[in-house]
Amino acid sequence: MKHTKVKDLLNSTTTLQEVNAKGWVRTFRNNQFIALNDGSTINNIQCVVDFENTPEETLKRITTGAAVSVFGTLVESKGAGQKYEIQVTKLEILGDSDPEKFPMQPKKHTLEFLRTNAHLRVRTNAFGAIMRVRSVLSYAVHKYFQDKGFVYVNTPIITGADAEGAGEMFQVTSLPLDNLPKNEEGNIDFKKDFFGKHTNLTVSGQLEGETFAMALGQIYTFGPTFRAENSNTSRHLAEFWMIEPEVAFNDLDDNMDLAEDFIQYVIKYALDNCKDDLKFLEGRLLEEEKSKPQAERSEMALLEKLNFVLENNFKRVSYTEAIDILRDSTPNKKKKFQYIIEEWGADLQSEHERYLVEKHFKCPVILYDYPANIKAFYMRLNDNTEAGRETVRAMDILFPGIGEIVGGSEREERYDVLVEKMKALEIDEEELYWYLDTRRFGSATHAGFGLGFERLVLFVTGMTNIRDVIPFPRTPGSAEF
Ligand code: 4AD
Ligand code: MG
Repeated sequence: MKHTKVKDLLNSTTTLQEVNAKGWVRTFRNNQFIALNDGSTINNIQCVVDFENTPEETLKRITTGAAVSVFGTLVESKGAGQKYEIQVTKLEILGDSDPEKFPMQPKKHTLEFLRTNAHLRVRTNAFGAIMRVRSVLSYAVHKYFQDKGFVYVNTPIITGADAEGAGEMFQVTSLPLDNLPKNEEGNIDFKKDFFGKHTNLTVSGQLEGETFAMALGQIYTFGPTFRAENSNTSRHLAEFWMIEPEVAFNDLDDNMDLAEDFIQYVIKYALDNCKDDLKFLEGRLLEEEKSKPQAERSEMALLEKLNFVLENNFKRVSYTEAIDILRDSTPNKKKKFQYIIEEWGADLQSEHERYLVEKHFKCPVILYDYPANIKAFYMRLNDNTEAGRETVRAMDILFPGIGEIVGGSEREERYDVLVEKMKALEIDEEELYWYLDTRRFGSATHAGFGLGFERLVLFVTGMTNIRDVIPFPRTPGSAEF
C-alpha cells in the first residue's frame, strides 16, 4: 500500500477506510494523540492511537522527531481546527529519536539557536513554511519569465570578470597553497593555474547575460552569486541567489516597468499558492511583535503588507529629488536618522534608504539617475548631465523593512563612451574584449537588473534576518555544513 501525503489526506473530499501516512512526530499528547507532519503542508494530521491495544514499548518510542508510519481510517475529527484525523489501527516506528538528545523540542526556540542547527531547523513549523515559500517563489520567477518568452541562461560560476568592479571576490585556484608557483617578478604565477589565468567566483552574471541578450533578445539568469564583502548584517550573505533579466531594446523606463511587474507577479503568486504557510508566518510575526514596544511594531500585518505592494505603484524618484528630501528632513532626535546628506554625489546609506521608504513615501521606491561615480562602469551615461553632476541611468528599488532589493540600469551601449569609462577606471579592455564585442557588433540600447532572491524571500515571509531564509547561510566567519 502506497502512503498518502498529509496535505492530500487533509484535502480529501471523503472519509476513507484504509490510509497510510508517513512522517515525523511533532508532539505526542496523553499517550494517545500524535501530531504528524510530513513536510507537505504546515498542517499536522492528528493520529489517534489505540493506546490500550498498543504495546507499552511502542508507545514509549513515539517521541518528538521520530519517523513513523501509521495505518488506519481517515475519519472526521471532533477536535477543533482540523477536518480529519486518522484512527490508528497499526503503527510502525521507522526511526527513533531520543527525546533527551533531539535538539528540536516542541517549544519555542530562538532563531539564533536554530541557526546553529540549520540541518534540523527545517523540521520546525516556521522553517518548513519559509522553505516551502522560497520554493514556490523560485518557481514563480521561472514561470513569470518563461511565460513572457525569456530564455533562461546559465552564466558561469567560475569567471575571470569582476562585473561590479568592487573587488569583493572569492578567488578560485587549484594551485597548492603551501607551494605557490612564482613568476619572474616574484608574484603568484596564475599561468600555472588550472585555467592558465586568475579566476574567481561570480559576483553577477550580468556581463555574460548581456552577450546573450544581444542575440536572444530577452534573457534571465537565476543562480548562486558570491560576494566576499565583510558585511555582517541581517541583509548580506556571502553566497546568495540572484535573478538577472536583461532585455535588448529596453531603456530605463522599460526596465522599471519590468522590475515592478515582475516583483508584483511573484508576490501575488506566493499569496495565491502559499496561503497556509503565509498565514502561519503572519501569526508568528504578530506573536513576535507583541514583545516589542508599540512604536516599533509594524503598522501592517504580513498579508496586508504584501497586498499593499500589489495594489500600489512603486514611487519613482530621481537621486537628486531624494537628496533634496533627505536634506529637508528633520533628523530624528532618538538617533534614528542622524546622518543627513549634505553633498550631492554621496552614496545613500541604508538609513537614508529606509527613511525614504518607511518614513517619507511609505511604499516601495524606485530611485533612478544616480551620480555616475558611485555606480558601476557599464551604466548608461545620461546625455543631459550638467558639469560636475554626471548621472547614469541606474535604478535601485527600495523596499520597506529591507532596503535595496533590486539594482539595475540601462547599459552604456556606445563603444567609445564605454571604453573611455573603462580607461578612467583602469578596467582591462583586453580581459573584457568579449564584453566590448557586444558594442562593436550590432550594439543596441538594452537594460537589466538584479534582484536579490533572499531579500525577496525576507520580504514575503516577514523574517528579519537573511540567515533565516536560505537553507545553509554563508556569512563572515560561518560556513557550517
Ligand atoms: O546591486 P547589485 O550589486 O547589482 C548587480 O550585481 C548588477 N550586476 C545587477 C544587474 O543589473 N544585472 O546586486 C543586485 C541585488 C541587490 O539589489 C541585492 O538585492 C542583492 O543583489 N545583493 C545581495 N543579497 C544578499 N547578500 C548580498 N551580499 C548581496 N549583494 C547584493
Ligand atoms: Mg546595488
